[in-house]
Amino acid sequence: MTSARTTGEATTPGFETLSELVRARRSNLRMDADRPVPPEVVERLCDLAMWAPNHMRTNPWKFALFTGDGRSRLGAALEAAQQARGEADPDRLKKARTKYLRAPAMLVVGSAAHDDPVFHAENRDAVAAGVENLLLGATALGLASYWSTGEVVTVPAVKALAGFEPGDQIVAVVYLGWPVAPLPAPPKLAPPITVVDD
Ligand SMILES: Cc1cc2nc3c(=O)[nH]c(=O)nc-3n(C[C@H](O)[C@H](O)[C@H](O)COP(=O)(O)O)c2cc1C
Repeated sequence: MTSARTTGEATTPGFETLSELVRARRSNLRMDADRPVPPEVVERLCDLAMWAPNHMRTNPWKFALFTGDGRSRLGAALEAAQQARGEADPDRLKKARTKYLRAPAMLVVGSAAHDDPVFHAENRDAVAAGVENLLLGATALGLASYWSTGEVVTVPAVKALAGFEPGDQIVAVVYLGWPVAPLPAPPKLAPPITVVDD
């Protein structure tokens, strides 16, 4: 399969704009931790996330914004969980405690639990699609963003801090901030597409 761009087939300004935006998004942690991201901006990004497709309109999105000292509470919850499972390395504990201070805004994105296991899984799919909308919106506004997960997504105290239910899933812990340095684009891979035509 070849792209419209390479064959000269029809494209549209909208496609080209979207394509540039998608390619411009990078996981970029090089951000100014001291320059706030207004909550209204984060709200607009969350609104974009909610335009993602979601099966049977379950609207599984959940968001929790941590700024200021709230970021320390997030880190403290992770550190406490690590200590509870026996972690004693002071460097690792310090990293957990301070890692969320690297961004002015930390957005925890959750997916609502569902009694039906299929919907439970599909809720997560929908939220993941929403996270990409959010990251693209951030990129369009000139914000650096970074989708992270790790042990933090398993910690019950973090879900409680975020206002999520115990059965909800944390899909992303997104760092948001104004970039201090851009990141180069990664090498481009061709899409691995199997075409079945007859
Ligand atoms: C579900 C998911 C979880 C991720 N979790 C982490 C993480 O915990 N730590 C990390 O360094 N990057 C994490 N990333 C970011 C990827 O490492 C990153 O997207 C990848 O390196 C490609 O870089 P790019 O986003 O700039 O294209 C995660 C990405 C996704 C989609």
